[in-house]
Amino acid sequence: MFKNKIKNICCIGAGYVGGPTMAVIAYKCPDLVINVVDKNLERIEAWNSLELSKLPIYEPGLDKIIQKCRGKNLHFSTKLKESIETADIIFISVNTPTKTKGLGAGYACDLKWVESSAREIAIYSQGHTIVVEKSTLPVKTAETIKNILHSSEGYKSENISKPNRKTYSIISNPEFLAEGTAIKDLINPDRVLIGGEDDESIEIISNIYKRWVDENKIISTNLWSSELSKLVSNAFLAQRISSVNSISAICEMTGANIIEVTRAVGTDSRIGDKFLNPGPGFGGSCFKKDILNLVYLCRYYGLEEVANYWEQIIKINLWQQQRISKLVIKNLFGTLSNKKIAIFGFSFKANTNDTRESPSINISKDLIEESAVLAIYDPQVSKGQILKEISSEKNNENIHICKSPIEASKDADAVIVLTEWDEFLSLDWEFIFKEMRQPAWVFDTRVCLNKKLLKKIGFKVWSLGSN
Ligand code: NAD
Ligand code: UGA
Repeated sequence: MFKNKIKNICCIGAGYVGGPTMAVIAYKCPDLVINVVDKNLERIEAWNSLELSKLPIYEPGLDKIIQKCRGKNLHFSTKLKESIETADIIFISVNTPTKTKGLGAGYACDLKWVESSAREIAIYSQGHTIVVEKSTLPVKTAETIKNILHSSEGYKSENISKPNRKTYSIISNPEFLAEGTAIKDLINPDRVLIGGEDDESIEIISNIYKRWVDENKIISTNLWSSELSKLVSNAFLAQRISSVNSISAICEMTGANIIEVTRAVGTDSRIGDKFLNPGPGFGGSCFKKDILNLVYLCRYYGLEEVANYWEQIIKINLWQQQRISKLVIKNLFGTLSNKKIAIFGFSFKANTNDTRESPSINISKDLIEESAVLAIYDPQVSKGQILKEISSEKNNENIHICKSPIEASKDADAVIVLTEWDEFLSLDWEFIFKEMRQPAWVFDTRVCLNKKLLKKIGFKVWSLGSN
């Protein structure tokens, strides 16, 4: 279908995936012109900000690539129509959250943003266009996209001569980057997955990645395997975390130590030692929604036992967060009234400013419910974002956002480490101890601090997965 070389790429959605992914493609393929479009003007303005610290996403290494490519072959704008019109390839990289109402609410994926993207493509695209699903989607979404595209006027009309007729190829190319390591993951991925129905389009998309990814790492499948593999990958990863977190509770009961157990278990090469870190439960925008999506799919096909199996991962995750809140309350004499608690870290993991589904949200809310005053510090999450997640008219006075860990912990009864930011490892804990109200507690939910040292200083220490 493509007589001429691929030149123009459009990406709909300038979020955590669209922005970094397109930046890396632009960086590796200087001959391609990449237009990243979003309907959110504020976000686009932030992507175009001259001060690189004001990019909408904090991601190590991203600023350097943006500096190199932006304005050359990488453009951020709200010009949806123009960018679609000229595009040979369009990546759909919009949000796909869990539906909050209607059929399948609480489980199914809300496809309204994908649908609106497909409708825009149907209107504005010209000639042959490869439409790539970059968002994580329920199996069979490609069918929906195809239906919308094939209903477009230009596609249907028999009167339109061939070069002017709209035609489409749908490709599934899910993204596996993790936040905080997005650039590293994009530059050196474990694999690139490309699912499709026609070999030419699969090859065109493969050829883009082949510029920097080893050919052996590029896997091509049919559309449905590709869509399903993305959901399953996230389900397997989340399953490991819920497994290790469930074992952390047994360790606390029995005198075993979760770090020793995961080391012993993870050295079995069949199991592997990655993704076995215990913590306050997984956060992030995707694990929960993608498992819920898988659960919905199982129930849709009448696979109730399979659905229940995967749903348990989410139940354990919530249970882990709740048990941490309860432990803090229990250790602080059963009440948090008139107590100040310093929260160290609000993002869902280190090296990102993303707070979506962060365990810090539920745990903070539980503590406020017990009348605690929270002093929250995170090196990357803005004050406004933290307040948006947890504040209400009722609890405003109980929440203070601090500029440093020292400020947060002054006169506090306890410090709870909820995100494993590096800077927490090298704090002057002796100074912090002296400034806190006694008895001073540290709750280390990431098992990242030196427990022995803290105890020597005089802290009472609770560290996840050991006693
Ligand atoms: P995001 O919310 O950060 O960004 C999505 C963007 O799409 C938003 O800025 C929104 O304004 C824009 N948008 C929505 N509909 C639009 C439309 N019709 N026209 C123009 N712009 C539109 O989301 P994200 O984190 O980048 O995730 C995007 C997809 O990638 C999701 O399906 C997610 O599951 C998947 N994913 C995310 C990650 C991650 O680490 N965040 C990793 C892999 C896959
Ligand atoms: C995850 C996957 O790792 C990516 O492959 C996938 O592309 C992405 O979801 C997605 O589809 O959105 P992300 O959520 O950015 O990436 O970050 P992870 O590193 O997977 O961490 C997720 C959560 O699990 C975090 O809250 C993290 O603290 C927690 N975690 C991770 C643990 O508690 N223990 C671990 O050993 C690893």
